[in-house]
Amino acid sequence: MKSISELEYDLQAPTLFLNPHPLLHRMRRDAPVHFSRQLDSWVLTRYDDVTAELRDPRLSVVEETKRIEELPEHERGNLDPLRKIFMDWGGRADVDDHSSFLKLLRRHFTPQRVLNYQPQIERILNDLLDSAMRRGSLDMANDVAHPMAMSVVCTLAGIPNREMDMLLRNSNYISGLLEMGEPEQLYRCQQGMLELYDYLGPVIAEHRTHPQDDLISALLSPQAEGLHYTDREVISQCIMFLVVGYHTTANLLCNGLQMLFEHPDQLETLIVGEFEYLSNAFNEMMRIQGPVASVRRLALEDFELRGQHIREGDTLVMALTAANRDPQVFADPDRFDIARPNAQRQLGFTVGPYSCMGQSLARLEGQVFYRTLFSRLPDIRPRDPVPDWTVFRPLGRELRTLRVLFN
Ligand code: HEM
Repeated sequence: MKSISELEYDLQAPTLFLNPHPLLHRMRRDAPVHFSRQLDSWVLTRYDDVTAELRDPRLSVVEETKRIEELPEHERGNLDPLRKIFMDWGGRADVDDHSSFLKLLRRHFTPQRVLNYQPQIERILNDLLDSAMRRGSLDMANDVAHPMAMSVVCTLAGIPNREMDMLLRNSNYISGLLEMGEPEQLYRCQQGMLELYDYLGPVIAEHRTHPQDDLISALLSPQAEGLHYTDREVISQCIMFLVVGYHTTANLLCNGLQMLFEHPDQLETLIVGEFEYLSNAFNEMMRIQGPVASVRRLALEDFELRGQHIREGDTLVMALTAANRDPQVFADPDRFDIARPNAQRQLGFTVGPYSCMGQSLARLEGQVFYRTLFSRLPDIRPRDPVPDWTVFRPLGRELRTLRVLFN
């Protein structure tokens, strides 16, 4: 039996993903720190609470492994490889390891180095557009955005992208862990991790003998902040990049395009203004329909929040998508306005010590994608009357396909 408050805030309603905002507005107003039994988590919906708690040292970022630890012993054993790879990601399980990892990344990921990727991104995108257009049909999600975002991460890391279908499939399996992690998702995720692990082993070995100017070589270098990563750890970091750098970016590119299709006045402003608003438009896309609708944290101790009793071991869902529409911060928050003066306050990359390390690259991909697309195909328009959304639990959604027409 669901309690009254569960029914009032039904976060598992089958069509919620199509528009969770009326519900999230109510929660933000009436129950900004709400314990959802459906999600077995606290759900935070106010901008100020979410920004404060993303910086709160009483919360740990390593939450996903909780779902493995809660399983019966034999299942836990079966999923041990998954847990190990996941703990290695960015040294997240240890504050010092994580800050050394960040230092190393910041040294490698300078703004100039990111900008240098522009010609490669343009080439990748144009090649994908050319081959889809030769076939005469164009699905912007599967023909362009997904392989483009994956190819860019591979270029950055130094991973060959010959087996694109395998990389996409496994990376998507692993993203399942970032949902709420049902047991079958955990097994698929582990299967994905293990297949990528086998693929990456020889790639790392090759980089050990022939260092290159890429992320794998930076992770292997002896000056790597004294980290001395083993091959296993470097493989785990690569898997992390193949997941966090790809799935998010591909979905943002599609979500943003869909929003422009749905708001022709905004598209016109973008094009007539010769893309002057593009970087602000990117922030507004992230605000209104960012690909990461929520992130989770694990309480390391008991504490009070807005009169609620958070206990050690509790999960907190930071509903970024709700915070991004908090009327205390964003006027007329449900309106998509590419000229919105404070769109850059959006939280789609989060803030605090674990915020996205790749946002300048994601922004560059967005610049290249929309400019190239509307310059090459000025009459591009959606082919299907209803967008092909699918749910990404608990509060997100993504486009399975985005078929377009063009002349
Ligand atoms: C629109 C595209 C993107 C979005 C929306 C996005 C969003 C995010 C979010 C929400 C997090 C987690 C933050 C947290 O838990 O507080 C994250 C982490 C991360 N992202 Fe991104 N990301 C994007 C693109 C990229 C790209 C292109 C890369 C690099 C190739 C990247 C690299 C990372 C890394 C390394 C982390 C982990 C940071 C850490 O553990 O300190 N991201 N991203």
